[in-house]
Amino acid sequence: MDWRAQYRERLTTAQEAVKLIGPRGRVALGHAAGEPAALVAAMVANRAAYAGLEIVHMVSLGRAAYAQGGMEGSFRHNALFVGPRTREAVREGRADFTPCFFHEIPELFSTALPLDAALVQVSPPDRHGFCSLGVSVDYTKAAVEGAKLVIAQVNPRMPRTMGGSFVHVSRLDRIVEASEELPELPRSALGDVEMAIGERCAALVRDGDCLQLGIGAIPDAVLASLKGKRDLGIHSEMISDGVVDLVEAGVVTCSRKSLHPGKIVATFLMGTRRLYDFVDDNPLVELYPVDYVNDPAVIMRNDNLVSINSCVQVDLAGQVASETVGPAQISAVGGQVDFVRGAAMSRGGRSIIAMSATAKGGISKIVARLDEGAAVTTSRNDVDYVVTEHGVARLKGLTLRQRARALIGIAAPEARPALLEACSRLFPRGLD
Ligand code: COA
Repeated sequence: MDWRAQYRERLTTAQEAVKLIGPRGRVALGHAAGEPAALVAAMVANRAAYAGLEIVHMVSLGRAAYAQGGMEGSFRHNALFVGPRTREAVREGRADFTPCFFHEIPELFSTALPLDAALVQVSPPDRHGFCSLGVSVDYTKAAVEGAKLVIAQVNPRMPRTMGGSFVHVSRLDRIVEASEELPELPRSALGDVEMAIGERCAALVRDGDCLQLGIGAIPDAVLASLKGKRDLGIHSEMISDGVVDLVEAGVVTCSRKSLHPGKIVATFLMGTRRLYDFVDDNPLVELYPVDYVNDPAVIMRNDNLVSINSCVQVDLAGQVASETVGPAQISAVGGQVDFVRGAAMSRGGRSIIAMSATAKGGISKIVARLDEGAAVTTSRNDVDYVVTEHGVARLKGLTLRQRARALIGIAAPEARPALLEACSRLFPRGLD
């Protein structure tokens, strides 16, 4: 059948489409800025029809109304990542959390977490009947390929990204047209601390390196500090507006990349409309599924891969806690370990954990022992560079005593006496 006829036949309203979702199955939502807001709103409005419908996703930039108090009879959120919209629900036990590496999620959708439905958002079809998943290809593509029922919101505001982002109209069981702005993530305010960290990280980056950066003030500060570099490449889980600045400044050219030369490769995007317009129909930027982009065996094929991520605490052995504050789950591993390991295996690769030396209230993020209940995200065997505003510690190859000394040297000066004191218990013969 001609795809145009299929499109017309499957076109419906959000209210009608969500009636096809069974009361108790598992539903994946398009990720982050790709969340189909009109479909999610219709599903929440139809809540009386559901009895414990499981909602799985990573980052939510929407309202996550299904995870609010009072929704328990209809929905149960299973978080694959915990962000500001879902922290409270996880903390209060109204939602579950499933630890997993980002690159494993497509596989989980065909093994432990099979999907009854996927609610996704796509660009309008091109003349061949292909829609683009736009800003989020990640696990969203696997959800489209594997779910028993696929409902797609066709949004003309969704950019048409290149790479592995395309799905054909024939794969969409129901189509809902709804034009709305994508959620945007404004740039972070950069203070002196962030800029000092950014500059220290930038000093570890060489011309021609291939970068992975996360989101937030520290990655933004690193990007802002890279203006003097040449021929940088990007192979990153996500990209944000700072990357656009570096392309326009001629710093990011990807000309020396050993994998996908000449292309910025990512699995999702979060930023402002400027970023979404930049990637629209732009062959410089290619998005692929996360089981490709974040697979350490793929990451390592990029020579000189430098990964830069952040954390909550580092102990004196170099164990990195990035997802919990004590026992409270505030985030998740995301792609941190995927890239730490991929960078370790890349020829000339390096990984950097960058953080402010102190958290709110001036408490040190470098600690003798991680808080009770904290999860280790990057293990002491995987950790490489740790950077704060006070300096750089390269831990690979250092003994436990050498690590303690190096980390105390980049801790907040006020925290150093207590850390040295703790060392007298940890190392009976001292640090020297
Ligand atoms: N002790 C107590 N609380 C702490 C803390 C510490 N040592 N460190 C951070 N916090 C609190 C902050 O105060 C903040 O709480 P609030 O929201 O109530 O203000 C919260 O934890 C988040 O910290 P913040 O500094 O705002 O986070 P960030 O935006 O710099 O992100 C991570 C830091 C670690 C949460 C983030 O980098 C992350 O999620 N990492 C894991 C995933 C990852 O690396 N993905 C890779 C690529 S995208």
